[in-house]
Amino acid sequence: MRHFLTLNDFSKDEILEMIALAQKIKIQTKAKKFVPYMERQTLGMIFEKSSTRTRVSFETGIYQLGGVGLFLSSNDIQLGRGEPMKDTSRVISRMVDMVMIRTFEQSKLEEFAQYSQVPVINGLTDKYHPVQIMTDYLTMLEFGKDIHACVAYIGDGNNIAHSWLMLCAKLGFTLHIATPKGYECDEEVVQDALQYAKESGAVITFSSDPKEAVKGCDVVTTDTWVSMGQEDEKEIRMKAFEGYKVDTDLMNLAKSDAIFLHCLPAYREYEVSEEVFEAHADEIFTEAENRLHAQKGIMVWLDGKRGE
Ligand code: CP
Ligand code: NVA
Repeated sequence: MRHFLTLNDFSKDEILEMIALAQKIKIQTKAKKFVPYMERQTLGMIFEKSSTRTRVSFETGIYQLGGVGLFLSSNDIQLGRGEPMKDTSRVISRMVDMVMIRTFEQSKLEEFAQYSQVPVINGLTDKYHPVQIMTDYLTMLEFGKDIHACVAYIGDGNNIAHSWLMLCAKLGFTLHIATPKGYECDEEVVQDALQYAKESGAVITFSSDPKEAVKGCDVVTTDTWVSMGQEDEKEIRMKAFEGYKVDTDLMNLAKSDAIFLHCLPAYREYEVSEEVFEAHADEIFTEAENRLHAQKGIMVWLDGKRGE
């Protein structure tokens, strides 16, 4: 049994296998051919934070695979009243076939997985958002950007940045990260990524200069400056991130056919200008749709039906 908690746990080949499955299932879905890879299976979906895309894509995805999704908000289950994670895990994993969790600390997710009898998927933690970044890679491929691409991430050194780091380090593309001072990526994640990069040949750079980072890149991406749980820091963050907005001037420094990705939700005129957002809406909303397809690939892979 494998869990999907971080991309650290997967080889390049395994990541590419999941992406290939997602591509295949997307083609089937578009042809309205719903193969019941996970017939009668139940996916428990535990949310300790808000969600639009993750909830809708997992619930729709498991249904299209022949199963059913159970939306479990921590406000409505005993977890929210203090029942321990390990007890919640031992109960729920005896009844369902797979679990997705969105929570705060990565350690809470790991604790759930440690006690679970079924595969557990990270639906976002403070540290990583790996299903999002698998989706972003699927989207890159659809827009003609592959393993040889240069990706620029501008903004907060957060869960999205960490996941880009891991994906790049495992697959071996070029990643330029620009973050303001004091908002850099977690040092432990950086060290892990640099270690994997030695094997994959990935080129990873860090700076506090967005212009330098996007120069000549194929993909430009960013994320909110205020992640869930950081609402109290909003004012101070707005000041710290001045100069980090992805606007048309910045995009013009990337390749002329560069794409722009955003995991959403987006805050216009903060991390991205309205102009850039609307100019790249096709890429952004294909990325949003691809959550559905990428996660079906991941679920089917974890369920063991890898080559079917
Ligand atoms: N990108 C993403 O995870 O969106 P939600 O927070 O709406 O699930
Ligand atoms: N970094 C953001 C991603 C939202 C999908 C957050 O954690 O809130």
